[in-house]
Amino acid sequence: MIKSLRARLFIGLTAIILLTGVVGGAFAYLWAFDEAIEMQDSILTQIANFAQNGSFRGDQSLRGIDAEADVDVEELGTTPSGSVEDRKLWTLRDGLHTVSRHGRSMRGVLRTRSDGSRFAVVQRTSIRDEIAGDMALRTILPIAALIPCLLLVTAMVIARSLRPMVRLAADLDASRPDDITRLPSAGTPSELHPFIVSINGLLERVRLLVDQQRRFIADAAHELRTPIAALSLQAENLDPVELPEAARDRVVTLKEGMQRTKRLLEQLLALARQEADPSVDSPVVPLDRVAKEVVADMFPDAVRKGIDLGFEIAQPIEIKAEPVMIATLIRNLIDNAVRFTPPGGRVDVGVYREGGHDVIQVEDTGPGIPSEDLDRIFEPFFRGKRTTDDGTGLGLSIVKRIVDRLGGTIALDNISSSASPGLRVTIRFQSSNTDVGSIDKIT
Ligand SMILES: Nc1ncnc2c1ncn2[C@@H]1O[C@H](COP(=O)(O)OP(=O)(O)OP(=O)(O)O)[C@@H](O)[C@H]1O
Ligand SMILES: [Mg+2]
Repeated sequence: MIKSLRARLFIGLTAIILLTGVVGGAFAYLWAFDEAIEMQDSILTQIANFAQNGSFRGDQSLRGIDAEADVDVEELGTTPSGSVEDRKLWTLRDGLHTVSRHGRSMRGVLRTRSDGSRFAVVQRTSIRDEIAGDMALRTILPIAALIPCLLLVTAMVIARSLRPMVRLAADLDASRPDDITRLPSAGTPSELHPFIVSINGLLERVRLLVDQQRRFIADAAHELRTPIAALSLQAENLDPVELPEAARDRVVTLKEGMQRTKRLLEQLLALARQEADPSVDSPVVPLDRVAKEVVADMFPDAVRKGIDLGFEIAQPIEIKAEPVMIATLIRNLIDNAVRFTPPGGRVDVGVYREGGHDVIQVEDTGPGIPSEDLDRIFEPFFRGKRTTDDGTGLGLSIVKRIVDRLGGTIALDNISSSASPGLRVTIRFQSSNTDVGSIDKIT
């Protein structure tokens, strides 16, 4: 069973074309052959007419007329004579006959002149057949030449007809899982419309399901925030209480656990928020200003860890996006850089325009990401080999989703220079306007 529709169509149509060609060719050959034989009979009859009217007599060979035709006029006399074959020939009636002469099959016309003498115009049947065969072959040559052309045209028509299907599959392949858009039916053949309608129905159901799940995660995270906040408060309330040393240690562990849970909930909320339907019209936000706010926000954490957090470059750039999206993105990058960089290190933030792109760059002097982890680094909950930290593994997947949503690209590069190894994260968005303001460099 052939699975490919294209192969099935091609094989079927090829069989039809070949069958038509062979049957048509065979009939054409047979008709042409019969016609050629009839024509040669009429030529023999015309030669006999000439001979009867005395244009030529005796054993004159007509080879000079057409060497290939090999037509002979045999004088048979007024009475049967000569060999048995000659006598037998003499006895035949006037007209066309197929006879055996000298062991060969011959076609001939017998005639009787007014003086009673008889003669025969003869030609070997094999020569006649050969001539008729040649003529018939010439009639089927165009058919034979047409078959390859027809096959080529058929292959082209099939490929062209199936192209919308290939295009549809490519469109489906290219669609991003977080961007479930309906397939357009305009410009596609009507046979594909039922499929497109079905696929669109399925996509709609998937979208609803994904939406429900997203809302469930957001709601669950949101609902959990209140009890966790209450628990944290209770733990804080234990601070002024006189407790034995062992109990105090437990309280510290409890608080850390609660901090981690809070962070997980916040990250889950951020993730669910990023997956929500894109707002129709995003406002224009000053990228540099949002970045500065985030840096100011995180500055105390960095100072506490002994890390020099600052701007390498901050050009005034405007970008079309939700301000929380941009803030979440930069916050996650700086948070990673500060957390993974050992005390005494540096974290440099850059916001600038380069080659038609708006760029956000965060560079640290930490250990970088092992190359075997890079493939999966954007997967939710993936934290790589370095799992000593208390992160959730959601940060970079949130960043990636925001970047995808804004149509940008993200690159993680391990800086391997021996002077200052580290990680450089570069995010690029297509610039919307081209005028660059004054360069504001803070280091
Ligand atoms: N600047 C960095 N230097 C070294 N490793 C990094 C850096 N940023 C990320 N990583 C590695 O990538 C992993 C995934 O980062 P991601 O931000 O997604 O999760 P996380 O920081 O562990 O958790 P979360 O951000 O949700 O608190 C981290 O666990 C860490 O191993
Ligand atoms: Mg992180």
